[in-house]
Amino acid sequence: MKKWAGVFDGSLDKLADEFNSSLSFDKRLAPYDIQGSIAHATMLGECGIISKADADAIVAGLNKILTEVNSGIAIEGEEDIHMWVEECLTKLIGDTGKKLHTGRSRNDQVALDVRLYLRKTIDDIIGELALLISTIADIAESNLGTIIPAYTHMQKAQPTTLAHHMLAYAEMFLRDIDRLKDCRKRVNIMPLGAGACCGTGFAINRHRVAELLGFDGVTQNSLDTVSDRDFGVEFASACSLIMMHLSRYNEEIIYWSTGEFGYITLDDKFSTGSSMMPQKKNPDMSELIRGKTGRVFGATVSLLTMLKGLPLAYNKDMQEDKEAIFDCADTVSKSLAIFTAMLPSLKYNKERLYKAAAEGYTNATDCADYLVKKGLPFREAHHAVGSLVKKAMQKKKPLDKLPLTDFKAASKLFEADILEVLKIENVVKARSLVGGCSPDVVRKRLQEIKAL
Ligand code: ARG
Repeated sequence: MKKWAGVFDGSLDKLADEFNSSLSFDKRLAPYDIQGSIAHATMLGECGIISKADADAIVAGLNKILTEVNSGIAIEGEEDIHMWVEECLTKLIGDTGKKLHTGRSRNDQVALDVRLYLRKTIDDIIGELALLISTIADIAESNLGTIIPAYTHMQKAQPTTLAHHMLAYAEMFLRDIDRLKDCRKRVNIMPLGAGACCGTGFAINRHRVAELLGFDGVTQNSLDTVSDRDFGVEFASACSLIMMHLSRYNEEIIYWSTGEFGYITLDDKFSTGSSMMPQKKNPDMSELIRGKTGRVFGATVSLLTMLKGLPLAYNKDMQEDKEAIFDCADTVSKSLAIFTAMLPSLKYNKERLYKAAAEGYTNATDCADYLVKKGLPFREAHHAVGSLVKKAMQKKKPLDKLPLTDFKAASKLFEADILEVLKIENVVKARSLVGGCSPDVVRKRLQEIKAL
């Protein structure tokens, strides 16, 4: 018989029972459920709501169950993880176990479990992001002078360095850490005491439970507490942005490794072959990360849609939060792990990158800027250099291989020193403002990132 079936005459239909059950997925909350119950029972004992002896027996029993959970005991046979833990406890210590649920509902209990799970998961993902950022920083450090083309509209735009390019992604992952830290503030508030929806008449000490579990405070409205999953949406949104950043990075790796681009070579350890075409080496890891991004976006939309239109307070719809949240966490963790392992294995074809950066008139802006520095309005300089580039294209030569007479024909302001200005290395060096690609500036930011 169900623990809630006092008022029931008939028993639950088998299909309905299966449909209702969340144990198959919420069993991974077991350690958090037990941790929460230990704090709750301790507080009940301290407040004299149950006897000290009962509280001690419950805590000892729960600790035993926790050990068994950690050693992989099968979690099955109950409606959800909360009922399973209570059932185990009652089997273990007898009727005293039935006192555990005093002043508590599964509605505030499940909110607590998800918050405890997310707090740990957020800390883990922050650690994984930090590892990725330091991996990026290490590779960037040895490539401060590795010149590569930068693109806009997927057309070659200006030369930059591999370090500058990689640290662009480091900035994104740093913002992801910030977002998770911010989300953690709202996760780390203690919900127990909200009961089913309107609190409890027992004189429990919510602050003591918060203290025992390391929360920053307690929630302030019981109706809100049992119906709030904003923190889950925030977490899923933060995960969506992480995946979006990973997906963009991996998209670049995918086409940089094509025969057409040939900027990077994938290591055998992280590429796979074709069952039919013997010549193939495919970027499956990057493609999978790009593909899995959709699951996380989907989970975020599922959570928002599940919550939209829910009246106060708890509704069983909310049981659907867990699989979405778990899938976000698992997908992000696995993607970060594989990507962080793969990144150092990429081989950069530096000659080809240099050549690609030097081609395509990527120094044309600098040529125009040269004229501006000599007093020509930018729009006129742009026009003059446009005609020069056209001539260079006709001659099939880069700008810095044109004779000075061609420069002079475009503008009288050109002098012999323009050839030095147009060298790709000098073009990169010239962008020495904050955020620019000059190796000195990038080195400075790299050091800041490493010190974070
Ligand atoms: N399994 C439920 C969930 O995940 C736990 C809360 C159930 N509460 C209830 N009143 N039926 O949301």
